[in-house]
Amino acid sequence: MQIQADRNAPVGVFDSGVGGLTVAREIMRQIPEERIVYFGDTARVPYGSKSRDTIVRYSRQIIRFLRTQQVKAIVIACNTASAYALDTVAAETDIPVIGVINAGARTAVGATRNGRIGVIGTEATIGSGIYTRVMQEMRPEVQVIGKSCPLFCPLVEEGLLHDSVTDEIASRYLSELKGKYIDTLVLGCTHYPLLRSTLRRLMGEDVVLVNPAYETAIELKGLLREQGLSRDPDAPFAGDQYQFFVSDLAEKFTDFATSILPNEVKETKKIQIENY
Ligand code: DGL
Repeated sequence: MQIQADRNAPVGVFDSGVGGLTVAREIMRQIPEERIVYFGDTARVPYGSKSRDTIVRYSRQIIRFLRTQQVKAIVIACNTASAYALDTVAAETDIPVIGVINAGARTAVGATRNGRIGVIGTEATIGSGIYTRVMQEMRPEVQVIGKSCPLFCPLVEEGLLHDSVTDEIASRYLSELKGKYIDTLVLGCTHYPLLRSTLRRLMGEDVVLVNPAYETAIELKGLLREQGLSRDPDAPFAGDQYQFFVSDLAEKFTDFATSILPNEVKETKKIQIENY
């Protein structure tokens, strides 16, 4: 399909809330010339315990909103929305839409030596079986062991990144995976890269930790280049390079974003996402 978008337009990135900032952060690092419009659905988070129909409906609304910002491509930064809505919304949209699952899956099947891969994520992502399906399409002999870790997101949002409570919960979740002798672990939820040092310590140095956010930024860079949509690095910025929108609690979002992004976030705008 011929894409008519303006190459200097921003990339739209969305998530159920703050977690997708780990994906935005990687895009900022790896393609620093690109503009980003980020939307976090903070009024309706979490998506990880919702049904497919609801997540598809929410994703459609967000894409309609992002299109009003003239984005040239969309990254579904949320694993849960990628699992449930990507195929549906990508087929309905005439600009490129990518999720975070394919990139993470591709890296994991390339990294494993013993063919045993663990995936951690929300209940919805693990329940969808999507990582297993995608990885086995890429390499049919791999064995994939999924484990949902529903308490990780609230722990991250409470700022308990290095805390004995987090250690205790993580070691309970991960003990099941450790018994399965995996050599690769996909961090299949936006928040989990922020727990990387805890996960690394508990899983040991020999297990490869795959961060789909990192791989997705690489995929986006390649996609923009292929489609002639990479931003001209000399084009002037009209307005802020990075813009942030949420459906609720804008100030709380601003504080969290400032704590994990390389630069201070000055403003987050609240919009009525149900109107889109
Ligand atoms: N962003 C979600 C994900 O990556 C985690 C938070 C939620 O459940 O909405 O799956």
